[in-house]
Order: sequence, then structure tokens, then C-alpha cells
Amino acid sequence: MRERGRFNAPLRRMSQPLLETRDLTVRFGGHVAVDSVSCGFRAGELTAIVGPNGAGKTTYFNLISGQVRATAGRVLLAGQDITRAGAAERTARGIGRAFQLTNLFPDLTVLENVRLAVQARRGCGFTLLRRAADLSGLAAAARNIVTRVRLDRVETARVSELSHGDQRKLEVAMLIALDPAVYMFDEPTAGMSMDEAPRVLDLIAALQADRTRCILLVEHKLDVIRTLADRIVVLHNGRVAADGPPAEVMESDVVQEAYMGRGLDVA
Ligand SMILES: Nc1ncnc2c1ncn2[C@@H]1O[C@H](COP(=O)(O)OP(=O)(O)OP(=O)(O)O)[C@@H](O)[C@H]1O
Ligand SMILES: [Mg+2]
Repeated sequence: MRERGRFNAPLRRMSQPLLETRDLTVRFGGHVAVDSVSCGFRAGELTAIVGPNGAGKTTYFNLISGQVRATAGRVLLAGQDITRAGAAERTARGIGRAFQLTNLFPDLTVLENVRLAVQARRGCGFTLLRRAADLSGLAAAARNIVTRVRLDRVETARVSELSHGDQRKLEVAMLIALDPAVYMFDEPTAGMSMDEAPRVLDLIAALQADRTRCILLVEHKLDVIRTLADRIVVLHNGRVAADGPPAEVMESDVVQEAYMGRGLDVA
């Protein structure tokens, strides 16, 4: 089974951002939700995107993943313009947006869901008709990922039976199975209990250990950001209000004056 080498060669050219947005803008009626955002994200970098509610964080993700079409500006992946590509093509080219539960098969088991994602990535589509040898290879790869995200104790449970925390972990597992160049997580710990959240964050930290991918993380908890992020981009009214290393951005006037104790929780 041949795997697609979609982005491996360009990845080695570390001087070039793996993902870049240039003057990326979207207008909804009279409202500019994302306003001329220019940012480059390098392989190996985990960037936290923060900002108050309505700042444009999710919309920025939607513009990168292709769920929303830009009014102006460009999105480049490994130097190639993907602004006109649809969401499915961007996924195939390596933009990985965390799966929403609606993308999972609720009546299949954890292992079966992950196996289908491994299969999709290997270019054989979401079909169950494979040769036995292929199937055992897919099953082994899926089991490996399921163990990595520590869902092996529920691997034969149906998705509909999982706890909220385990469902979020499964979203991460599905994304790992697709092996994207760019991982995008939008509030991955939202609605999770205090003991579940660190496990999902550990998974994201483990992804960072593979310095060939870039990770974008929208997260409200400042302590999490401080621990995980290499860089923080602050969005405010759709614009970049600050961008730099965590210590610098946390101390910047814009965060101190406008965000501390307001848009972000300091939990
Ligand atoms: N499809 C849409 N049509 C019209 N307005 C939209 C659309 N999507 C987002 N918006 C508006 O764009 C702005 C940015 O929303 P967005 O969801 O990106 O914010 P956010 O930073 O993710 O906020 P939160 O922290 O609450 O998740 C908001 O004013 C929102 O109402
Ligand atoms: Mg949002």
C-alpha cells in the first residue's frame, strides 16, 4: 500500500513557513470577522491563538481549513497557494482540523473508527472491502494510535457509549490517523472535567515532540498556553493584536491591559 508523500519534501525547507496566511480577510455583511491576518507558522511550532469571545479565532481556523471562503487574502501550505481549494482537498493536502463528533461513526467501535481514518489517509477511501493482509496492517496501525491516546481500555466500545472526554480523545486519535502537516485544535478541552483535560493536552504535547508538524491551538486557559505554546498570537476584533513568545506576549501591554481577567480565564 503506497502512502502519499504530500508534504514531506517541502517540510525539510525549514526557512519557509509550513502554513502561512497573507492578509487573510472575511467579511460577513458589514462585519469583518478576520481582518487582514498575516502569519507564518513553522514546522515544529505550537502556536496558541487567544483572544476574547468573538475575536475571530474559530473563523480564522475555518478560513484555513476551507470551511469558510476568504473575502480577500491567501492561504499557503508549504508555499503552495490553497486559497481556492475546497475543504476536502485541503484535508488531503495536509490541513488537519480536529474531527467533530458528527464526523465519527457512532455505531462503530473506537478501533473501527480509527481504522477507517487510517484507511482514508492511505488513499483507499472509507471502504471496508480490502484484502486480508491490508486489513491486518490497518488494524495494527489503528491499534497503535488507539493505545497512544490511551483509549485501548475502551477500544471495542461503540463511540456512542464513550464519555465526553473519551470522545474528545477519539477526535485527536482520528486526526493523528490522518497524519496531517498542520494540526488545528479549537478549544480541545472545552466541557472536559479537571482530570480529563490534562490527558488531552498531554496528547497535544506529544504531537509537538515530532518537530515536523505545526500545531495551532485555540485555548482559553492561560496556564495551559504558558506550558505548551512556543508562540502566542492574540486576535482582537479579527486583527493580530500581539504575536510572539509566550513570556513576551503575556507581559505585553495589549494582554495585560485588555485581556487579563477579561476574555481569557486565568484558571
Ligand atoms: N458564518 C458567519 N456569519 C456571520 N457572522 C459570523 C459567522 N461566523 C462567525 N461570525 C461572527 O464573526 C465573529 C468572530 O466569531 P468567531 O466564532 O470566529 O469568534 P471566536 O474568537 O472563535 O470566539 P469564541 O471564543 O466565542 O469561540 C463573531 O462576531 C461572529 O458572530
Ligand atoms: Mg471560537
